[in-house]
Amino acid sequence: MTSPVPDTGSWWDQRYLDGTDRWELGAPAPPLARFLKEQAQAPQPPGRVLVPGCGRGHEAALLASLGFEVVGLDFSAEAVREARRLHGEQAGRLTWVQADLLDAEALDAAGLGSASCDGVLEHTCYCAIDPALRQAYRSTVARLLQPEGWLLGLFWCHRRPGGPPYGSDADQLVADFTAAGFSQELWFPATNSAPGPDNQPRDNEWLGLWRRAAH
Ligand SMILES: C[S@@+](CC[C@H](N)C(=O)[O-])C[C@H]1O[C@@H](n2cnc3c(N)ncnc32)[C@H](O)[C@@H]1O
Repeated sequence: MTSPVPDTGSWWDQRYLDGTDRWELGAPAPPLARFLKEQAQAPQPPGRVLVPGCGRGHEAALLASLGFEVVGLDFSAEAVREARRLHGEQAGRLTWVQADLLDAEALDAAGLGSASCDGVLEHTCYCAIDPALRQAYRSTVARLLQPEGWLLGLFWCHRRPGGPPYGSDADQLVADFTAAGFSQELWFPATNSAPGPDNQPRDNEWLGLWRRAAH
């Protein structure tokens, strides 16, 4: 039986299996890909990077191709199975983990302890998480990062009620990450977003780069 609760892997499994995965782009999100490949401010390899809620793993595979050691994590077994099928392990640079990002014990068991990552790349995991649980997302990411570690993310700042995808307010999001111990390096509206499922351009994605405070 399918769980009706979006905060479980089985609910997301069903979305992948039903083909109701309308977020799927089949490629890394264009604003993140362009930033990582072309911008001087982009984080540089080497380094160990976590991609939470990696789905089919397109951003994780891109990071691995750029020279990072990458862990793609998702609590949906179906997502992890698909990511591994599509992208493999890239000669050991890519690891796939099925675990709940908000389960510290499961993260530890997967080698994702405190300060175990140099970077985190966010794409449509934050908008998949119930706003009531986002404080746990922010503190988890802060805990996993080394001091001065980076968080690069594309955030969907839509204002529609309900979710997933749950919306965000761009100013509030900055305030929340600042309160969680991040200092902002970049925060701007993305200009080359992929079209949405209705084929209309998305004009509400924001790209951010933060550093975890040194202490
Ligand atoms: C909207 S999908 C996006 C997938 C991928 N990032 C992409 O852009 O194609 C959200 C993903 O986050 C995963 N997810 C949501 N909450 C999670 C959690 N607490 N821990 C791990 N994965 C989670 C879901 O299983 C799903 O694969």
